[in-house]
Amino acid sequence: MNIGIDRIDFYTPNQYVDLVDLAKRRDVDPDKFTIGIGQEKMGLPLISQDAVTMAAMAADKILDEATKKDIELLIIGTESGVDESKAASLFVRDLIGLPKTVRAFEIKEACYGATAGIQMAYNFVAQNPEKSALVISSDIARYGLNTPGEVTQGAGAVAMLIKAEPKILALQNDSVFMSENVGDFWRPTFSKYAFARGKFSNEVYIRFFDELYDAYFEKNNTTIDDLSAILFHIPYSKMGKKALQSVENKVDEAKYHELMQRYESSILLSKSIGNLYTGSLYLGLISYLENAEDLKTDDQIMLFSYGSGSMGEIFTGKLQPGYKENLNQEQHLKELAERRKLSVDEYETEFKKEIEIVDGDWFIGNLTNEKYYLEQIKENERIYKSL
Ligand code: HMG
Repeated sequence: MNIGIDRIDFYTPNQYVDLVDLAKRRDVDPDKFTIGIGQEKMGLPLISQDAVTMAAMAADKILDEATKKDIELLIIGTESGVDESKAASLFVRDLIGLPKTVRAFEIKEACYGATAGIQMAYNFVAQNPEKSALVISSDIARYGLNTPGEVTQGAGAVAMLIKAEPKILALQNDSVFMSENVGDFWRPTFSKYAFARGKFSNEVYIRFFDELYDAYFEKNNTTIDDLSAILFHIPYSKMGKKALQSVENKVDEAKYHELMQRYESSILLSKSIGNLYTGSLYLGLISYLENAEDLKTDDQIMLFSYGSGSMGEIFTGKLQPGYKENLNQEQHLKELAERRKLSVDEYETEFKKEIEIVDGDWFIGNLTNEKYYLEQIKENERIYKSL
């Protein structure tokens, strides 16, 4: 039995910051951001949007009433949780109308959370082939104004339906993984923003990829020639490229050129949206499937998942015959084209907005006209609404 990704889609907020504008304001050569970092735009949520609303927006795109009935597992991978205790999944279950008989919880390990969710979902479907699992990654990447990480911010969610005989990608149950206690990037409970040892984080990311790349071929009876592409967690588009460059001497020239070309197809969405943290790898998968040329059924794609702190995993999936009909490229291009460009002043104002709770209450209303939103905080409890 094949198990894997049957449906996949993403959501990103309807406003963005142009990184050339940002570079000019920060007195930086725009080429540093667009070429050196490899990013063009970054999505920015309004104060009524958070990990819950973005997750619900993404999930809505892949679910219909019949699909919902078979879901028994809902996992949200996030490092932008809205509550230290209650899982985002419980709010989302309610908003999108999943049955009560769903096991719903949240997973955290930096950008690795959704991958942990997918592996758990895989095992769940293996035990329950008639049932399916919904895995959603949802995050807001924030380093703060005027920080080195500022240009690598972003926001959004990716929703994936994991089931038997999937239409898009059959996972191969061939993972290799590793973990270490590393101080490359973290966000303590007292801080709204992440701290990063930027250059060190790049080194750890590449080292994890290198070690896992070798471990993958040692464990599995395959060679790089059996793979059609390597997709990476994309904190910014130059990062995956650097990791791929690190294995250049392990791959023949033609294959390396092909992998690099295919990598370029996988970063198009991220360049325009930014870091989605736990969703970035899967946004890269959507970008790859929608933009790469000459894809064929049974192409085997390697995925490198990395979460700072640090946890890494490499696994592969095989492309399924129905993948193309289950993508939504036109809609994505339309949504991205319709986003509102914020001036740097508007971005900074929006960025600094704080939830101001007075006596346990705060009212926001619907700022976005989108289907799911945080309407208010009442008696210290978040109240979400759907249109
Ligand atoms: P920085 O210090 O501002 O940048 O921070 P830099 O000086 O290293 O320059 C970046 C690149 O731009 C360099 O290229 C420069 O040469 C080039 P490279 O040597 O790297 O190839 N450059 C130029 N290029 C063209 N024209 C110019 C020009 N000037 C310079 N004029 C850094 C960069 C990424 C460190 C920073 O943005 C940062 O700290 N970001 C956040 C941390 C991060 O994303 N780390 C990635 C690995 S960790 C990870 O992926 C996990 C994560 O997603 C979190 C999680 O797991 O939850 C972050």
